[in-house]
Amino acid sequence: MTIRADGVKKWFYDRKRGEFPAVDDVSFECKKGEVFGLLGPNGAGKTTTLMIITTILKPDEGKVEVNGFDVATNPEGVRMQFGFVSSDAALYDLLTPRETLAFVGKLSKCPKEKLSARIDELINLLDMSSFADTRCQALSTGMKQRVAIARALVHDPPVVIMDEPTSGLDVPTMQSVYQLVRQCREMGKCVLFSTHIMSEAEKLCDRIGIINKGKLLAMGTLSELKEQYGKPDLEEIFLAVVGGNENNGS
Ligand SMILES: Nc1ncnc2c1ncn2[C@@H]1O[C@H](COP(=O)(O)OP(=O)(O)O)[C@@H](O)[C@H]1O
Ligand SMILES: [Mg+2]
Repeated sequence: MTIRADGVKKWFYDRKRGEFPAVDDVSFECKKGEVFGLLGPNGAGKTTTLMIITTILKPDEGKVEVNGFDVATNPEGVRMQFGFVSSDAALYDLLTPRETLAFVGKLSKCPKEKLSARIDELINLLDMSSFADTRCQALSTGMKQRVAIARALVHDPPVVIMDEPTSGLDVPTMQSVYQLVRQCREMGKCVLFSTHIMSEAEKLCDRIGIINKGKLLAMGTLSELKEQYGKPDLEEIFLAVVGGNENNGS
């Protein structure tokens, strides 16, 4: 088992709602070689859940383990296990993609000889050779997102966590992200990603968890969900689970 979340709860406060559970008793597992999609509308609690798994936020209740490391007792251990990609690439403008990868590789103490081969490999894999030596400030959104994904993979982590990684990308770049997710699965990595795009979850995920208002309401493979809800596709399942015209106040 690679990611195990058990009864995770996180309270937030805002003036309108007062104290409310942004993540409410969420439990799921994501295995090696599996792509798990956390599917939910805006404000569902996807980012908060991923922040807890990546040790940026502490859960108020529940337990999370990543590759056997506990986020509460060994956050440093957890941080060595994953690469994280958010929807906002957040790169250093003045570094080139190659320099960005070298910098992050050094931070993760990747041996020098291995690192430069790894960087070349990622540049090829993500089709970045035409802009590998251009400063990030001059790159398009799609190029930047490819750099962000490469950055998350430099240290070859067993777990890859992505928060709406295709938001704002054009179709060809989205496709290259999908291809990369599949490659990660083939390499035996555990991939957890969040999305609000049905077709993305449908195409990419081995298992899907549907989250709304902090609660994980349904979980399974697409065919399990189809059978359980008696619906022909994910969109209909989603509507049955979450309810039509849902406004969750975010
Ligand atoms: N730091 C915060 N303080 C108060 N409320 C927050 C904070 N961060 C997120 N929220 C609220 O928590 C809920 C879940 O947010 P989030 O996890 O970002 O959802 P998602 O990523 O699914 O869109 C939303 O209602 C959001 O407005
Ligand atoms: Mg989010």
